[in-house]
Amino acid sequence: MKATANAGSNIAFVKYWGVREDREGRRQALNPSVSMTLQKARTTTTVEFDASLRADECRINGRPASPEARERVVRVLDRVRELASIRAFARVASVNHLPTSAGVASSASGFCALALAAARAAGLSCEPEDLVPLAILGSGSACRSLYGGFVLWRPAGKGPGGSMVEQPPVAQGDHGLDETLVYPGPSTLEQPPVAQGDHGPHETGGDPGPSTLEQPGAAQGDHGLDETLVYPGPGVLEPRPAAPGGSKARATGDGPNQAGGVPGPPGFRRSRTACGGPNLACGVSGPPGFGAGSGESTVEQLATREDWRLVDLVAIVSREEKAVSSARGHLLAHTSPLLPGRLTSLASRIPQVVQAIRDRDLALLGEAMEADALSMHAVMMTSEPPLIYWEPATIAVIRKVMEIRAGGGPACYFTIDAGPNVHVITAPREAGAVRDRLGDVPGVREILSLETGPGAFLTDEHLF
Ligand code: PMV
Repeated sequence: MKATANAGSNIAFVKYWGVREDREGRRQALNPSVSMTLQKARTTTTVEFDASLRADECRINGRPASPEARERVVRVLDRVRELASIRAFARVASVNHLPTSAGVASSASGFCALALAAARAAGLSCEPEDLVPLAILGSGSACRSLYGGFVLWRPAGKGPGGSMVEQPPVAQGDHGLDETLVYPGPSTLEQPPVAQGDHGPHETGGDPGPSTLEQPGAAQGDHGLDETLVYPGPGVLEPRPAAPGGSKARATGDGPNQAGGVPGPPGFRRSRTACGGPNLACGVSGPPGFGAGSGESTVEQLATREDWRLVDLVAIVSREEKAVSSARGHLLAHTSPLLPGRLTSLASRIPQVVQAIRDRDLALLGEAMEADALSMHAVMMTSEPPLIYWEPATIAVIRKVMEIRAGGGPACYFTIDAGPNVHVITAPREAGAVRDRLGDVPGVREILSLETGPGAFLTDEHLF
């Protein structure tokens, strides 16, 4: 069967940076993250399993996928085949839709769309909680794009000893990160050589229309992490052989936005999944067979885009492919002496961001967002080898944002992913004025305007 999905990229307000290895030898994101799903920065992906194929075929933007992108796509397809008990290879086509030719590279939309399309094509559940582990296999941040609006991803790792214990429903004081989410210190994880050009089936496009998601019954105090995050010091972790089979997630809600006409009850809100399966890598490649076993990641929609609309003005200062992909960068995080401090600071930052989203408080959100971006880049810059993604114009845009605010101008706040381009978050009514001011900054080549978007959905507009 052929299936096509559309998914948006997302911009993280609290960044996911770094992976650890859990006690079952699986790689897990080091920290919870919070993001906003984007509209007009989307990917359409069509998948068809075909018994006549002799290998998986994967084209991105009309061209054969790079070896690295292909490897990540095949990782997702292998897991789908395993879950669906099928052997056929797949034909995959992925097109990124952006209002410009380049500049915002994200694998989030690509791997999110791939997970949904592949699951549908194989006859698997398309419930978002079931798709989380599939999306994560390609790119950690992809699981956040399953949902529209504002999204919290709590990686596996709750519970004593890192065991994947049942997480209670949203509760007071549960911030999604507990004492078991610790930085394990340097591991023996194999680090692939740094290479040029990391491509997932990427980003962006089309306006799929409003989400059908219902507003969550947000509970106070569940921020996806708590205050006990500790740094235990260096340890030695070794990859372990794969154990068979990840578990199917519990279906706790309905599927991704049903704009494509795919049935599913309305009102899902939170996914809780067992992230087992081969190569459970939060966006990183691992040794073959690495990562099977139990585990749990939860992804939760904090607010819909109907609840709060923001605009992400992306100041493009470079369209170059980044030299070190985030997939590789995650492996370097533990080499930074600043990582423990960053993780500790998240114990208060994540609750702040969650509160800001619930209160629609842009100033509160912006303060935390900027601190988080700077903290992540401090870790990057102090890794071995250092990862310096910024260009001179990156700093110029940061200064301009601060200058706008200091001068009593419109409220706007910056964040920066693993690249030089600066995302400036502002309210829709201020976007025009902020955009004009950013356009004056030397080195800014273009400014994209991306609004809060809906989650992933299925569509009949197949690419082949
Ligand atoms: O999901 P990945 O492996 O592409 O990593 C995402 C890394 C950042 O974009 C820098 C942060 C984030 O949370 O999106």
